[in-house]
Amino acid sequence: MICNSVRQQKDMQLVGGIVSQTGGHVGKEIAPGILAFGVDDMVKVLEQADVYLDATSASAVEHNLLQVPGLGVNCVIGTTGLSEDFLERFEGQVVENDVSAVVSPNFSVGVNVFWKICGVLAAVLEDYDVEIIETHHDKKKDAPSGTALKAAQIVSEVTGIEKMVYGRTGLTGERGREIGIHSIRAGDVVGEHTIIFAGNKERIELTHRAHSREAFAEGAVTAIRWVSARRDSKVHSMAEVLGL
Ligand SMILES: NC(=O)c1ccc[n+]([C@@H]2O[C@H](COP(=O)([O-])OP(=O)(O)OC[C@H]3O[C@@H](n4cnc5c(N)ncnc54)[C@H](OP(=O)(O)O)[C@@H]3O)[C@@H](O)[C@H]2O)c1
Repeated sequence: MICNSVRQQKDMQLVGGIVSQTGGHVGKEIAPGILAFGVDDMVKVLEQADVYLDATSASAVEHNLLQVPGLGVNCVIGTTGLSEDFLERFEGQVVENDVSAVVSPNFSVGVNVFWKICGVLAAVLEDYDVEIIETHHDKKKDAPSGTALKAAQIVSEVTGIEKMVYGRTGLTGERGREIGIHSIRAGDVVGEHTIIFAGNKERIELTHRAHSREAFAEGAVTAIRWVSARRDSKVHSMAEVLGL
């Protein structure tokens, strides 16, 4: 979907796609006239590129990505589940090689506004209990979603709450000062996130629902365009791309 969105842009050219060596897609068309290369040919593909976009898996990124800044190519990373340690090493490569990058576990405009409002609500409702519920399709490989984790991180930074509780079962006792995170996997749900701020007499629930994966693909194209002309040795967020 991202490849097709890129091909529709007058100011962009899709120069190649990279897939795993073993998934059975090497040599197949990822878009009309564009063949998929295996990751072993990554350097050859990137010689023609200004921007590299990654939407793979955390383990693939940790194996493949650190070589990209050294090739002078800017990066847009949408893959979720990346470790803090890896992100620090990647930032070091971005600085050392004078390139620019955008890293975001969610490219959609709505989710980036959702994150911003999470921070506002957390600041004014600091004594309220916070729970985050995310729902995704039954093929999603990681849990909780990167979007839910980022919402929890934002609330944690604002409130100082450090304890995260992932689902609850058994004799859990009274709820403490914690952020609850719950993952539902069902059917073909594109992606839904609800954050609940609950007090004793009332609660606020804020929900984002993605209707189509095009919401992510369009945001990815926006990030590619934004980062393509930059050389500021920085890793940026999608909030910066969108001017939030
Ligand atoms: N930022 C956002 O807005 C956003 C939105 C949706 C999803 N995501 C994230 O994006 C990632 C991908 O999600 P998806 O649903 O598109 O997954 P997917 O359908 O499983 O696609 C993963 C792709 O990565 C490739 N790949 C896997 N291992 C690789 C390796 N070692 N080297 C090179 N390529 C490799 C796969 O190639 P093969 O075809 O050869 O297997 C496949 O093309 C996940 O982390 C997901 O959470 C982010």
